Amino acid sequence: MATGEHAAIGFHHEGGVGKRDVDHHGVRGRVGLVIEVMAWVELGVGLVGGPVTVGGHSRSLAEMSYTIRTYGDPVLKTQASTVDDVDGKIVRLVDAMFDTLVDSGNGIALAAPQIGVQKQVVVWDIDENPLAIINPEIVESDGEWVYDEGCLSIPGLYVEMLRPKTVLVRGVDLNGEIIEIEADELEARMFQHEIDHLNGVLMFDRLEGDQRKEAIKEYRRIEDEATREAARNPIRRRLGLG
Ligand code: NI
Repeated sequence: MATGEHAAIGFHHEGGVGKRDVDHHGVRGRVGLVIEVMAWVELGVGLVGGPVTVGGHSRSLAEMSYTIRTYGDPVLKTQASTVDDVDGKIVRLVDAMFDTLVDSGNGIALAAPQIGVQKQVVVWDIDENPLAIINPEIVESDGEWVYDEGCLSIPGLYVEMLRPKTVLVRGVDLNGEIIEIEADELEARMFQHEIDHLNGVLMFDRLEGDQRKEAIKEYRRIEDEATREAARNPIRRRLGLG
């Protein structure tokens, strides 16, 4: 996955460009970045494909992959709880999340509620740089940026959304240390999207009125198509692709 491919889709929004009021603090998550799902995939095309790797990571033999919860699952609407201790349980959760992310084929980030765990944990993996953050929160944001957002929990749907262009995210790493990450564009979008998941917010919740209705309707159409496709190809369904 070349970062350039992702970068090609987002575009700068007039007026919000180049403003970087966010101070440099602590750790910088300098990765090319994105959200869970690549927007360069044409609508619906993301539902098919062969076994793939994410960020160059191949699947491990000891993988603990979970089914990704999709729209309609109540766990996606709930507030994830704060992690008090970054213990072995959390480390195992992070491992399982990475395995699930790799299995997703086209994802680059995942929030714990997406595998049914109501804890504030997010993982992402770009350019063979797997990272995790615990209890992340956005402490500053600035600018505006439009991006075709996708979500592993709403497979196949991409919605053009305006959100802040830069964010400063504060959280805890796997050593229990407080970290701050200044993120821009796609990386910033990824954090905003994943932190939404921790708060039980989905892309649909960011839309209003007709746009929301239209997006849900389009997702239902994609879902029906995927169901028909899976019925035509049971092997693909067994592999969880589709
Ligand atoms: Ni998502």
